[in-house]
Amino acid sequence: MSIEIDILNGDASWPIAEPLHQAVWDPHIVEKLPWGHVKWANADLRVLIETPEDGLVCHVGIYFRTISWNGRKVHVGGIGGVCTREDCRGRGYATMAIEAAVHTMRANEAVRFAILFCEPHNFEFYQARNWHPFTGEVYCEQPEGRIRFDYMAPFVFDVVRAPRQGTIDLCGLPW
Ligand SMILES: CC(C)(COP(=O)(O)OP(=O)(O)OC[C@H]1O[C@@H](n2cnc3c(N)ncnc32)[C@H](O)[C@@H]1OP(=O)(O)O)[C@@H](O)C(=O)NCCC(=O)NCCS
Repeated sequence: MSIEIDILNGDASWPIAEPLHQAVWDPHIVEKLPWGHVKWANADLRVLIETPEDGLVCHVGIYFRTISWNGRKVHVGGIGGVCTREDCRGRGYATMAIEAAVHTMRANEAVRFAILFCEPHNFEFYQARNWHPFTGEVYCEQPEGRIRFDYMAPFVFDVVRAPRQGTIDLCGLPW
């Protein structure tokens, strides 16, 4: 089976990714979740995995941001919107797409580490892929102002070396 992995501009490829997002995160269900009202950043790039049989099967958004950690500026990569079509899961697509995202971040020499945010049911999935819990505090922007972001748990990846604790300010919307 042949698969195609593309890394495309985030805004330009949103129309391709949107139907998969809607299928995985039904807006009617999401709006009732504790994080349903959160305003998220738009991805800078997107990893899209397509197969001839199934079309788009997997998506990972990539974000680049200068954040602050304990008051010091640091350039990081983020991943978000990780999703695989329900009937295509367990085939390694998300693992491949996350690897492609991390590879893309490594190509940007300024990136020190990567961050993602996830819910408890995905902790094991990311820990098995070398992401580590960040046990400090995370702040971000929302339309109402700066807030502590604790709707989801932060996990970090050592592109070079990621901190495990301290205070992170995303200096913008979360992803
Ligand atoms: C999480 C998700 C992206 C995984 O996609 P996938 O393409 O099935 O992932 P892969 O096939 O690369 O990996 C699946 C493997 O991880 C395991 N796995 C999948 N979800 C897991 C979880 N939540 N916890 C632990 N292990 C998990 C599977 O058992 C499988 O293991 P194996 O490789 O030993 O067989 C997919 O289940 C999904 O879209 N979930 C809904 C959206 C979501 O929660 N996204 C994450 C947002 S942070």
